[in-house]
Amino acid sequence: MDSPHLLPLLLLAAVLVLLAAVAPSSATPGVGVIRLPSAGRGDRACTSPPDPTIYDRPVIGIVSHPGDGASGRISNGTSTSYIAASYVKFVEAAGARVIPLVYNEPEERLLEKLSLVNGVLFTGGSEKQGLYFETIKEVFQYVLDRNDAGDPFPLFAQCLGFELVSMIVSKDNNILETFDALNQASTLQFPSYSLLKGSVFQRFDPELIKKLSTSCLVMQNHRYGISPKRLRENDALSSFFKILTTSPDENGKFYVSTVQAYKYPITCTQWHPEKAIFEWRKPIIPHSEDAVQVSQHFANYFVSQARNSSNRPLADKVLDNLIYNYSPTFSGKASKSFEEVYIFS
Ligand SMILES: *[C@@H]1O[C@H](CO)[C@@H](O)[C@H](O)[C@H]1NC(C)=O
Ligand SMILES: *[C@@H]1O[C@H](CO)[C@@H](O)[C@H](O)[C@H]1NC(C)=O
Repeated sequence: MDSPHLLPLLLLAAVLVLLAAVAPSSATPGVGVIRLPSAGRGDRACTSPPDPTIYDRPVIGIVSHPGDGASGRISNGTSTSYIAASYVKFVEAAGARVIPLVYNEPEERLLEKLSLVNGVLFTGGSEKQGLYFETIKEVFQYVLDRNDAGDPFPLFAQCLGFELVSMIVSKDNNILETFDALNQASTLQFPSYSLLKGSVFQRFDPELIKKLSTSCLVMQNHRYGISPKRLRENDALSSFFKILTTSPDENGKFYVSTVQAYKYPITCTQWHPEKAIFEWRKPIIPHSEDAVQVSQHFANYFVSQARNSSNRPLADKVLDNLIYNYSPTFSGKASKSFEEVYIFS
C-alpha cells in the first residue's frame, strides 16, 4: 500500500477521533465542550412571559381590495377581492398573524373579525368609492373608537389607504391632488427632526435616516397624494396628523409621504414598505439591505404597537379566521404588481 491510498484512511481515523472528543459523554463532562457564561434566570425553565401588559400573540386585520390584483386574469367574479401576500408577509415577518377583513362580507362578520384582532392594515390599490370606501370608513371609525375607549389599537395605512384616510379625516372626497409618482423609487425628506421622537423613526439609526434622505430607498406607485401645503391648510388634517416625511415626484413636486397621528397609534405612508422585501415585478423596487431594513423597522414598529393592545381573543376563534385558512395564488406571471395574492370570492 502506498501513501496516496493511506491518506483517506488516516483522515477518516482523525475525523472519528474528533467526533468522539466532541460527542456528549456523561463519563467525561466538560471535555471539548464550550461553556457559555450563564447568569440569573437563564438557568431556569422559562414558563411565563415577563410583562403581562404586552401581548406577544398579536393578530392584524387586513382589509381586502376589490378585484384579483391581476386585471381579472386570475378571477373575474364581480364579488372577488384580494390581498397581496406581501402585506401578509410584512406583518408575519414582525411576529404577528393575519385575519383577512373581506370588504364585502356581511357587517356582522366584519365586526366579529375586528373583535379578534389587535390592529388593522389598509393596503394600496385604486378603489376610492362604493362599498369598499364604506368598509374602510367603518373600520377607521372602529380604530378611533377602540383607542378612545382606552385600548391602544394601531392602524397602518399605505398608499391608497393613506389617501382614503385623508379623505375621511378631512371629510373632503376631493382633497387629493395628482402627482407623477407611478413606479418610482424615492427619498424621504424630513421637514423637522424634532417630530421624529415617539414616531416609527425613533428606532432608526441616524445613519439610516441620513441615507433615506439622500438615497432612493423607498418604493412609490401612486398618481394621487397630498401636498404639505394642502395638508397644513386643512384644519381637520393638520390637527390630526403630523408630517414626518415628504418626497418629490418625477417633476420635483413634493407630496406628504409619511404621517403619524398626534393622538392615535395611526401611521400612514404614501410609499410601500412591503415591496422592498416581498415584491419583484417592478425592476425599480429597491431591494438593498438598507431598503429592507427600512421596511423591517416599519413592520416591527407597527406590530409592537399591536402588542400594546389589551385584546385577548379566544385562540379557537382566531384559528377559524386566520388567513392560513386560505392559500395564496402565484400571480407573478398574471399580475404586473404582485408575486402572490390571496383571493376571496
Ligand atoms: C376575465 O375576463 C376577460 C375578458 O372577458 C378574459 O379575457 C379573461 O380570460 C377572464 N379571466 C378569467 C380568469 O376568467
Ligand atoms: C406601548 O405602550 C407603552 C406604555 O404605554 C409605551 O411606552 C410604548 O411606547 C408603546 N409602544 C409602542 C410601539 O407604541
